[in-house]
Amino acid sequence: MKHTDIYEALHEKSPIGKTVTVCGWVRTFRESSAVGFLELSDGTSFSRLQVVLDKNALSFDAECTKNGASVCVTGELVKAFKGEGNELNAKEIKLLGKCPPEYPIQKKRTTLDFLRTIPHLRLRTNTFNAVFRVRSVAAQAIHRYFHEHRYYYVHTPIITASDCEGAGEMFRVTTQPCGAKYASEAEYYKEDFFGQKAGLSVSGQLEGEVAATAFSKIYTFGPSFRAENSNTTKHLAEFWHVEPEVAFAELPDIIEIAEEMLKYVIEAVMEECADEMNFFDAFIEKGLKEKLNRVIESKFAVCDYTEAVEILKKADVKFQYPVEWGSDLQTEHERYLTETVFQKPVFVTNYPKEIKSFYMKQNPDGKTVAATDLLVPGIGEIIGCSEREADYDKLVAAMKARKMDLSAYRQYLDLRKFGSVPHSGFGLGFERFVMYVTGMENIRDVTLFPRWVDNIM
Ligand code: 4AD
Ligand code: MG
Repeated sequence: MKHTDIYEALHEKSPIGKTVTVCGWVRTFRESSAVGFLELSDGTSFSRLQVVLDKNALSFDAECTKNGASVCVTGELVKAFKGEGNELNAKEIKLLGKCPPEYPIQKKRTTLDFLRTIPHLRLRTNTFNAVFRVRSVAAQAIHRYFHEHRYYYVHTPIITASDCEGAGEMFRVTTQPCGAKYASEAEYYKEDFFGQKAGLSVSGQLEGEVAATAFSKIYTFGPSFRAENSNTTKHLAEFWHVEPEVAFAELPDIIEIAEEMLKYVIEAVMEECADEMNFFDAFIEKGLKEKLNRVIESKFAVCDYTEAVEILKKADVKFQYPVEWGSDLQTEHERYLTETVFQKPVFVTNYPKEIKSFYMKQNPDGKTVAATDLLVPGIGEIIGCSEREADYDKLVAAMKARKMDLSAYRQYLDLRKFGSVPHSGFGLGFERFVMYVTGMENIRDVTLFPRWVDNIM
């Protein structure tokens, strides 16, 4: 269908006399005896196009004015009578699809909880329309950042035989029939599609390291899967993961890169999604824009884990989980650090090796690893980052201490055998980032079809 995007119709600089055809869904309709005003949205812009229907000159199907109906309107563009942009004086309006009154998107019933039950229709609301435009712009900006900095985009496999995070949260991939009986696990997997245990990747890092040790700077941006039973506002079973991997980079270098990339993407979103950001600022998180502007202008804090534990132990708040050196930080601790103590994003560095992954570079103290999590107000961890252990013997020792099957990591170990280099990388949870820039509080509201335990709609 030849037509003009509503974004373009609204922004046409010299609209007078210009005839265009636009298509979209009716968002509101009001009328007097002589004219009707119909607000039309096609999702290409935050603002809707006002269509003016001269009831004396135009005959049209009343279905065209119903909330949610899809229509096609041809008319003449003029400067809007009120406000900025243009409006359309309709010459012809055609019904594409009618929308009966049981349409669930009604002004009165639009709580986020309710909208989560209709993921196939909620995108047509202002909030979700805005969230997913921001999500798209942020994704583009991430690609642009890496491309401009000469990173190569690699596509790491989704089906994998090695568990990167080693936390046993992999979904299995199998073609074995239901109820098949085998004497042992080994026998079961031998009969399976790959002849061994396979699963959905929790991270593209291990393969990303393979590429980084050939191209120096790479990134992946794709889905990761975690079968973790965490029914929280920041965990999904399927999420999108941004994972750069950089050779000849140590922990301070990768921290700098993470901070620069985040600021770049936040700036791009603020600039390209000004209307959406005004909306989030007014209706979702008061002060959001100011918060993000401060983030762009400030230097992120860096705090050693040991120091963070001291701060938390002295804190004048009752935490649900106690803090001791050696224990993992819970979301409540992370949020206290970033919201109350630093009041900005903070990299917590050098965690105890026992609570982190096998691949992280072991520090000379023998107790900690060169890892960092970036914590942000409102969410907690959005980035997991580390320098990788580049020493073959140390890596093998760490894997043995975790009782890992070395034979499954032969290729990974080879990288330390043949021209090993210091290298580092991080994983940014893309949905958590979108939450951060939009102020949305539930990860299920920044994902088209969120998947979590017991839920696959
Ligand atoms: O901290 P994680 O587990 O680190 C890794 O997977 C590393 N291999 C990354 C790397 O160094 N290349 O995960 C990284 C980020 C987390 O900080 C979080 O933002 C996000 O991924 N994440 C999740 N997001 C949504 N739902 C989940 N279940 C998530 N698990 C992790
Ligand atoms: Mg982590």
